[in-house]
Amino acid sequence: MCYNMRPEANFKGVKMDKNINKPTEIQNNSKKFSWTDLPEGYECLSPMAGVTDTAFRQICKRHGADVVFTEMASANMMLNAPTRNAAFLHYEEWERPIIGQIMGGDAKTMAEAARVIEDMGFDGVDVNMGCPEKKIVGNACGSSLLRDADTAARIVEAMANAVNIPVSVKMRSGFYDSEIVQPQFAIRMQEAGAKALAIHPRTKEQAYRGSADWTVTRLIVENVQLPVGGSGDVTDRAAIERLRAETGVQGIWVARGAMGNPWIFERERTERPPLADVIATALEHARLMVKYKGPHGMIEMRKHLTWYFSGFQGAAALREQVKTVSTYEDLERLIEDHQLLERFAA
Ligand SMILES: Cc1cc2nc3c(=O)[nH]c(=O)nc-3n(C[C@H](O)[C@H](O)[C@H](O)COP(=O)(O)O)c2cc1C
Repeated sequence: MCYNMRPEANFKGVKMDKNINKPTEIQNNSKKFSWTDLPEGYECLSPMAGVTDTAFRQICKRHGADVVFTEMASANMMLNAPTRNAAFLHYEEWERPIIGQIMGGDAKTMAEAARVIEDMGFDGVDVNMGCPEKKIVGNACGSSLLRDADTAARIVEAMANAVNIPVSVKMRSGFYDSEIVQPQFAIRMQEAGAKALAIHPRTKEQAYRGSADWTVTRLIVENVQLPVGGSGDVTDRAAIERLRAETGVQGIWVARGAMGNPWIFERERTERPPLADVIATALEHARLMVKYKGPHGMIEMRKHLTWYFSGFQGAAALREQVKTVSTYEDLERLIEDHQLLERFAA
């Protein structure tokens, strides 16, 4: 489906950010997606539960993300209660290439879920081997697989045998701080049939604390023959360049650096866009949230608004008030009350 700009994309005379890539045609999916066909230095929107839904993916795609990932979907739930996962797995044609990320701990279930992902038309299927959440780890899924390479390999092998789309793995450095499992784990995933790997070089114990250890990323790049994606502490364009230079990764997985900042994908940009562009994008994002999620979309949008509204004078007060926004009109009123556009024009 083509993305059509709606008339209300202009708010109080603010035009859409002119620098963004506007998708004008549906990308043809007749050619099978391959990780090795991507342009040099490709940049992906990394999977983020509660963040990388279709609305945000569309925003990032317009600003230059080459590949986007869904939020993780539970394989068990996909097979046993598919409607509960439906929103996670909804996408629009022009988001391609789009990869569906699934999470689970049983090879047969993961293979069946991979087949569902393929039948839904996704370009690839990714296995979550990084989620540190207690509930997930408790079910021997996500980062728990890092301490059981045999099961992890069986999962990848079963999935690769079940589908024709490429299977990729997103993993961490290890489960325990005291036991870095790379690059051996990555080599096992390659042998099991993975066609691409991405590494967030923190351990499960570290969760999101401390720094990502990019030396682990480099070690993997040097020891596998697959395209490797680098994740972790990708905060701005300079970090993207540094990660590439220091590790030799083929692709960059942008995660928290894209929150409230889809401009991070614009290769030529050297500074944050003007406030009017930020507002226009935040409004467009809000409209997409309502379009896909109904009124609840605005409640989910609040966190995105706090990310968009940072780094300018008066932003802190605005962020406080964002918590009370319940409708799209509330958001327009808030922007008007704060005279954001007038301040920008002054
Ligand atoms: C809110 C949030 C949700 C995340 N959800 C997922 C997920 O569903 N699947 C996954 O593989 N990684 C997930 N991640 C990890 C990111 O994709 C990324 O690897 C990690 O944040 C490191 O990159 P950064 O330091 O640049 O943010 C999540 C991260 C955050 C902050």
